[in-house]
Amino acid sequence: MNKKIAVIKGDGIGPEVVTEAMKVLDKVAEKFGHTFEYDQLLMGGCSIDANGVPLTDETIERAKAADAVLMGSIGGNTSTSPWYKLPADKRPEAGLLKLRKSLNLFANLRPAVLYKELKGACPLKEEIADRGFDMMIMRELTGGLYFGARETKEVDGVVTAVDTLTYSETEIRRIAVRAFDIAMKRRKKVTSVDKANVLDSSRLWRKVVEEVAKDYPEVTLEHMLVDNCAMQLVKDPAQFDVVLTENMFGDILSDEASMITGSIGMLASASLNDTKFGLYEPSGGSAPDIAGQNKANPIATILSAAMLLRYSFDMDKEADAVEMSVAKVLSSGYRTGDIFTEGMKLLSCSEMGDVIAEGI
Ligand code: IPM
Ligand code: MN
Repeated sequence: MNKKIAVIKGDGIGPEVVTEAMKVLDKVAEKFGHTFEYDQLLMGGCSIDANGVPLTDETIERAKAADAVLMGSIGGNTSTSPWYKLPADKRPEAGLLKLRKSLNLFANLRPAVLYKELKGACPLKEEIADRGFDMMIMRELTGGLYFGARETKEVDGVVTAVDTLTYSETEIRRIAVRAFDIAMKRRKKVTSVDKANVLDSSRLWRKVVEEVAKDYPEVTLEHMLVDNCAMQLVKDPAQFDVVLTENMFGDILSDEASMITGSIGMLASASLNDTKFGLYEPSGGSAPDIAGQNKANPIATILSAAMLLRYSFDMDKEADAVEMSVAKVLSSGYRTGDIFTEGMKLLSCSEMGDVIAEGI
């Protein structure tokens, strides 16, 4: 197959990790007889430096023209980078949010899996890590607090900031349908996470999720309050299959889930709209402290490229080959610094890309 992939390397460790994912994709193309054509685009801090804005209309159009987007990470050190002296809507993150919205990427899939080889890097008690876990966090990505009206103004002489949490039935239904569809291909359990004891948006969330559940009699639905979910993730992560939640809760819970896999450098993600199109990026940030040192863990980005093959190109065999190569490399004892434990072989970012590409 001939496919066009828009590539946004971004800032910080983004360029390093994306280069390794492209190395792996090129190997897949060679082995399986495909052609992947890349269109490299700027977004985030690098776009501010080049164009004065974090995302241009041209970038949006070129991303839309591709079959899928592979992304690294964007942003810099929020206390020291000059990007954060700009007004909020001109900062790197504003570009990412606008891109998600412009491409209608409402469904964010963040799989958190504890590889048995990485049990030693899992910060949980041994008896919990021993049980392992394999969950799919389904985060709503284009609604809620991230996209509601916000302003900072003086109210009776006191500076006051407002952010609005809005969800419509339609927004809740479409992400819930995705979650149940995915649960049908997994262990058939959905945990819907909300704060229905306080928030109206959560009460509507619960009601709509229950309606959707009626179409999936084989799937077990449970509701969990977000504070309890944060606790259950470290107490008994094995209980989760599909975790369905709104934008802000999903942002926070997915970072927590990534840490218990051993490192945020392991967590892939896919952001999908209602077609085959998607944007694929590691869940972790741009890690400016280690940028340019060839130390970053490229595995989350490589696993994101595997999700791209699976969800946007229907290339299941190819995606399996990438995931199997990652598992094999880990069981052979290869590690980047973030997941390194005594007795393992320490690799740089590019060496990790090499061994995973070789294993395809
Ligand atoms: C993520 C990131 C983004 C988010 C930031 C960079 C805006 O933390 O993808 O999880 O909060 O969605
Ligand atoms: Mn986040």
